[in-house]
Amino acid sequence: MKKTFFIRTYGCQMNFSEAERLRQLLKMSGWKEAENPELATALIAIGCSVRQKAENRVISFLKSYKNLKKNGTIFCLAGCTANLHREKILKQLPHLDVVCGPNHIAKIPEILNNYTAGKIVVATGENDLPFIECIVSGNNISMMVPITKGCNNFCSYCVVPFARGRLQSRQPESIIEEIKTGVEKGVRAVTLLGQNVNEYGQDFLQNYDFSDLLCEILRIDGLLRIEFISSHPEDTSTKLLKIMSENQKIARHLHIPLQSGSNRILKAMNRKYTVEKFLQVVETAREMIPDISITSDIMVGFPGETEKDFNQTYNLVKKLRFNELFIFKYSPRPMTKAYNLPDTVEKEEKQRRHRLLLEMQKQISNEILSTFTGKKCDILVERRSLKDSSLWIGRTIQGIPAGFKAHKDLTGKIVKVKILSHAEGILYGKEDEESLSQQD
Ligand code: 5AD
Ligand code: SF4
Repeated sequence: MKKTFFIRTYGCQMNFSEAERLRQLLKMSGWKEAENPELATALIAIGCSVRQKAENRVISFLKSYKNLKKNGTIFCLAGCTANLHREKILKQLPHLDVVCGPNHIAKIPEILNNYTAGKIVVATGENDLPFIECIVSGNNISMMVPITKGCNNFCSYCVVPFARGRLQSRQPESIIEEIKTGVEKGVRAVTLLGQNVNEYGQDFLQNYDFSDLLCEILRIDGLLRIEFISSHPEDTSTKLLKIMSENQKIARHLHIPLQSGSNRILKAMNRKYTVEKFLQVVETAREMIPDISITSDIMVGFPGETEKDFNQTYNLVKKLRFNELFIFKYSPRPMTKAYNLPDTVEKEEKQRRHRLLLEMQKQISNEILSTFTGKKCDILVERRSLKDSSLWIGRTIQGIPAGFKAHKDLTGKIVKVKILSHAEGILYGKEDEESLSQQD
């Protein structure tokens, strides 16, 4: 059998990181990546179930290619969606051959290699399998490294603890080893991934937390940037902020989902912090790290969210001035606590609240980007622009994308760039004359 695969990924960075790992594993097992689904003998979709819309997308992707079944294409659905709805999905997509939960993705090469036509293989269930150990270095300058799986928080709207299981922290040795090997191959930046990275180590017998892990990673020679997502406001400690403030290698970026500006709704969401506590975290972070970028998530239309609750969220977002905000409309998820509550906010009202926040945030994000004009920023160069070969793209220490013109290859280097403008969330500038003359 010709062994070619095509992977389509939906959802969060964890899914993309798992897709990248699966790619490597398949290649190591003799598979070649196909340019499009039509050329693949195995068509793999990695699905997200956080909202109904995301789930619909993966299902319609697999449906849209069902005519390939007659050529013998093996259809595989992997990720959260597979774990949550195995029976329902098999009814909806009768042409599926393999259904594989997020914790079983490493098994896919073996499943495909031993696949017998006409047999449905289901590999789903708990979080008991080890992390996918393989070296991945996407574009070679940056790599995503999962440090935890699952989540213990049980926010009342969230399906993640059911789709991905309870918290499981990856052994520090395995993380360090993977980053060191990546750096030897040219990686200069890592993004540590977890639903709540601050929970890292809570399941270890020994006393070892996220700050300890960061300190070890900081000692890796040749690594220039360390980023992490996401942090839970409740667990964002002063200890962590202190390490960030003292180390220029750690990105000045915190992604701390707020979700709501109403204490009543936060309680119903089981978020375990109050508006006052959140304000305190942001204030401390900005005091200790003045150039920090804080980004967040908001959910509108949670069951029982009144106009008053929404106004509190709106005013808080206005006051907090996040660098960026991801706004979601509440979507009821089976198995969660909130699923049993009536979905009281009408679709149009959710849409209105979403739009109001989006419009305000757009203006705030733009205003913040404008403050960069005239500033000199250290850009870690990641790649050449696809559209313009003299334009180099990288990111500032806050993780903001930035572009500048240069005629030599600067990938993997930190370049001082004077910012001149911004457009569509990207800063543009030119190499700083002073630091250029110092280099000569
Ligand atoms: N409906 C809408 N948004 C959700 N999120 C998580 N679960 C749901 C849901 N049921 C959002 C939260 C989270 C982000 C990753 O997705 O805002 O922070
Ligand atoms: Fe879901 Fe809450 Fe865990 Fe985030 S912290 S993954 S929102 S349960």
